[in-house]
Amino acid sequence: MTAGFCRLQGGLFLESKKADVGEGASQFQKDGGDNMAWADMFYPDPSIPETVRLATLEAVADGFPSHYTLPVGLPELRKEIAAHIEKKDGIKIDPGRNIVVTPGSDSGLLFAMMPFLDFGDEVLVPDPGYPNNFLNAELLGAHAIHVPTYPEDNYQIRMDEMEKRLTKKTKMMVITHPNNPTTVVYRKENLKKLAEFIVANDLILVCDQAFEDHIFDGIEFVSPCTLPGMWERTVTVCSLSKGYGLSGYRIAYLYADDKIMDVFYGSAVNVVGAPCTISTYGAIAALKDDTILPAYTEILERRRRVAYDILGNTPGVRMRMSESGILSWLDVGELGSSQEVAGYIAKHAKVLVNQGTPYGEQGENHIRIVTACFKKEQDAVRRFMRIKEALTQLAREKDIV
Ligand SMILES: Cc1ncc(COP(=O)(O)O)c(C=O)c1O
Repeated sequence: MTAGFCRLQGGLFLESKKADVGEGASQFQKDGGDNMAWADMFYPDPSIPETVRLATLEAVADGFPSHYTLPVGLPELRKEIAAHIEKKDGIKIDPGRNIVVTPGSDSGLLFAMMPFLDFGDEVLVPDPGYPNNFLNAELLGAHAIHVPTYPEDNYQIRMDEMEKRLTKKTKMMVITHPNNPTTVVYRKENLKKLAEFIVANDLILVCDQAFEDHIFDGIEFVSPCTLPGMWERTVTVCSLSKGYGLSGYRIAYLYADDKIMDVFYGSAVNVVGAPCTISTYGAIAALKDDTILPAYTEILERRRRVAYDILGNTPGVRMRMSESGILSWLDVGELGSSQEVAGYIAKHAKVLVNQGTPYGEQGENHIRIVTACFKKEQDAVRRFMRIKEALTQLAREKDIV
């Protein structure tokens, strides 16, 4: 086995560097605990949008979904995705040429990196960041080079930290934009500098935009592929999991220019096989329904505020208002290590949250909470209150209050 894969020995069943998977989570729930560690909107409550539910049922009744779609995805789905991209990014792309549908964006991210990396190459990844973005480089025989980002900069990427880590082996940068776990959106000015750096050093950018659909406070969202010189060197990876709350459908997509896409089209059947046909019909309905995203943005905008109001003034906790999506990122360093605090919450509040450490070196002293778990706000609030009570108790034990 290669060194990258060996590092994951134990996979789901032992302690692993992945943030939120594992038998431990299922057992915790079986024992009556709540899981707010999976980045899965409204988990564990049933929540398929009605148009999507009906389209899925209709597709099954029709009988066709026992068959494959094309390995790159059904043309009708790619057409809807192209319309969605035009609406959000203002770019017109050819659905017959520039889009590959993947079974979720986790496999899409690995696929996006594969054609570009040789053994020993280096990949720049902002830290904190999505754990898979560090791990994927290692799985492919390359090395993830952590680029620290700091709360005092609102986690924007410092160009001097990039320059310091640039070597002859640097081939790629992978960013999650908006970021998981911090929820921060990289600002246009920051992205412009990043783009200049990437073009000047002839790098490829893989941009994970899984959380792009819900941005708050009117913050401008810019897809880096739209910046000068970037279209031909960016693979953009998106998903219906987070924005549409359809993580179980496993429908995601990547897009890039013709030259890159040639390779993805050629290898799609080898790498991803084909996306799920039943889900394809649900995804088409989701993309055609203009009411889903605005309605969810409203719910999520409120949810992050409620989470902030309850948890933000807990002794020993420093929390910022989330800029996007379904997560909250808390600095709990005054109370203990990330492992200690997450463990304390699991034991005393009976809620599973994420330790910060799988998100990189900057994740120490932090925890991540998926504040958009549970459909009903009151159900989430009850868990926020339990977490707050547990942390207040911990603060007392530490003599902070
Ligand atoms: C930042 C980020 N990207 C991608 C994914 C993968 O999501 P999916 O495979 O459901 O599209 C996740 C899942 O948690 C994520 O947090």
